[in-house]
Amino acid sequence: MGGGVVGEQMVLLALASLGVIYLLKLALLLLQGVWAVTGLEVGILINNVGMSYPYARFFHELDSELMSNLIRVNIDVTTRMVQLVLPGMLQRKRGAIINIGSGAASIMPADPLYTLYAATKAFVDQFSRSLYVEYKHSGIDVQCQVPLYVATKMAKIKRASLTVPSANTYAKVALRSIGYEPRCTPYWVHSCIWWLISVLPEPLIDTMRLRMNLDIRRRGLLKDAQKKE
Ligand SMILES: NC(=O)c1ccc[n+]([C@@H]2O[C@H](COP(=O)([O-])OP(=O)(O)OC[C@H]3O[C@@H](n4cnc5c(N)ncnc54)[C@H](OP(=O)(O)O)[C@@H]3O)[C@@H](O)[C@H]2O)c1
Repeated sequence: MGGGVVGEQMVLLALASLGVIYLLKLALLLLQGVWAVTGLEVGILINNVGMSYPYARFFHELDSELMSNLIRVNIDVTTRMVQLVLPGMLQRKRGAIINIGSGAASIMPADPLYTLYAATKAFVDQFSRSLYVEYKHSGIDVQCQVPLYVATKMAKIKRASLTVPSANTYAKVALRSIGYEPRCTPYWVHSCIWWLISVLPEPLIDTMRLRMNLDIRRRGLLKDAQKKE
């Protein structure tokens, strides 16, 4: 029984230190944000920061560090940056906030094996949509842009194609979309895919997505195993 109590204390201690590390990392990221905007009149905030999994995995396979990082980077930092710039925008009665969401939440009916990533982006989507309504009469435009695949470090796609634009191509169309609908997918091919997904039966999309992500997981595990050899 004594061992049980010690065990429980160890677990509580471990949880407490995880909490402290989480708060320290969040504080560091926010300090970077505060530093960047201090003394500046921020007219447009583009909340592009984001992270995903190294590769697809089941929810129970996520370690707590990855879990905390995803929530911290995708939700906490995005929220706090908005909190930082809003008072100045309200004072000046103008400004634009662009939050980068993801097709994983706003276009796909589900993103199995990227569940937490998709859920953090669902937060970004609803956060932006509600802010849009809340502040549109105060001269502040809030928009959520929802890309599908873009050839970037995070997507681990090196070569651009018609369906997967390069970061440069994407950035150009993304900038041109600022000030239009509260939720948009700026790249035209992504818009066509969005339409196609919306008319296909959800179970079909779910099955295709699950298969695709299971394959990404299989290749990721293989790579990990090769690294260990
Ligand atoms: N690429 C896609 O297919 C895709 C699809 C849908 C949505 N998105 C979204 O688009 C946005 C941009 O992603 P991307 O594809 O361009 O990926 P990226 O090249 O990896 O960019 C992500 C950005 O977030 C920053 N970041 C990530 N973790 C951080 C941390 N812990 N501390 C500080 N900065 C951190 C990165 O900084 P560093 O450069 O210093 O690492 C980078 O500037 C993200 O919000 C992502 O969720 C991307």
